[in-house]
Amino acid sequence: MQPTNLISQWWQEPDAGDQALEDSHKEFWDDFIANAIDVDFTNKKILDFGCNQGGLLLRIYDSMPFKKAVGVDLAEQSIAKAKARSKDLPIEFLALDDLQSLDADFEYAISSAVIYLIEDMRKHAAQIYDRLKPGGVYFAWHADYIRDKRYVATQEAINRYATIKCAQNSVDDIITSFQTAGFKVFVKRMLPPAYIPVPIREDKRWFSSALAEIDYWYDHRYVFRCVKPDR
Ligand SMILES: C[S@@+](CC[C@H](N)C(=O)[O-])C[C@H]1O[C@@H](n2cnc3c(N)ncnc32)[C@H](O)[C@@H]1O
Repeated sequence: MQPTNLISQWWQEPDAGDQALEDSHKEFWDDFIANAIDVDFTNKKILDFGCNQGGLLLRIYDSMPFKKAVGVDLAEQSIAKAKARSKDLPIEFLALDDLQSLDADFEYAISSAVIYLIEDMRKHAAQIYDRLKPGGVYFAWHADYIRDKRYVATQEAINRYATIKCAQNSVDDIITSFQTAGFKVFVKRMLPPAYIPVPIREDKRWFSSALAEIDYWYDHRYVFRCVKPDR
């Protein structure tokens, strides 16, 4: 069982923490916004599940000023930082380990690099489904470290400092979970938006070889577009 209570920060590496996570994710966010979110969030109500320090919502607001957003995460310090830097924006950041208390009127939900940490995907899918209005859409960006054994080492590198460890759901498990909740599921494999710099990342712990990293970028990154049927 994974812990379901709150944590301080998700990334526990000494001298790094969740700011390092945020710094390394900005390129994914821009790609997610430009190439996966195919609707306009302007004047809509948005839920960001696993928002960490809230950087993705701040970035989205620059191009699509939503009416209201709620960002939830287990990491209390990261939520405190998110609150401190969004005072003038229509965003509520909450440290929560359960979504039941949230309103059920979101038009859109997003998550970026979170569902690979969720063991109980069926519960997660059902909770997001319940928070969305009919016709609402959940965009879930997902890194698949499960299908290819080369990424066992990547999981071990993540798990060394991650407070919530990698779960073991396959892409099929994830799609089935969303369908079981009632979503109509669409999927897109994300391609690198530009050339990948080589030699591959200086930090060698993530991928065992250049080819393992290239294949990860081209074959193992997905966005699930989960549509709650209109009634
Ligand atoms: C890899 S980080 C991604 C953070 C952010 N979405 C981004 O793109 O940079 C995963 C985040 O999911 C959060 N998380 C994991 N399980 C969660 C859960 N059950 N409920 C809420 N947040 C969760 C972690 O605390 C962490 O902040």
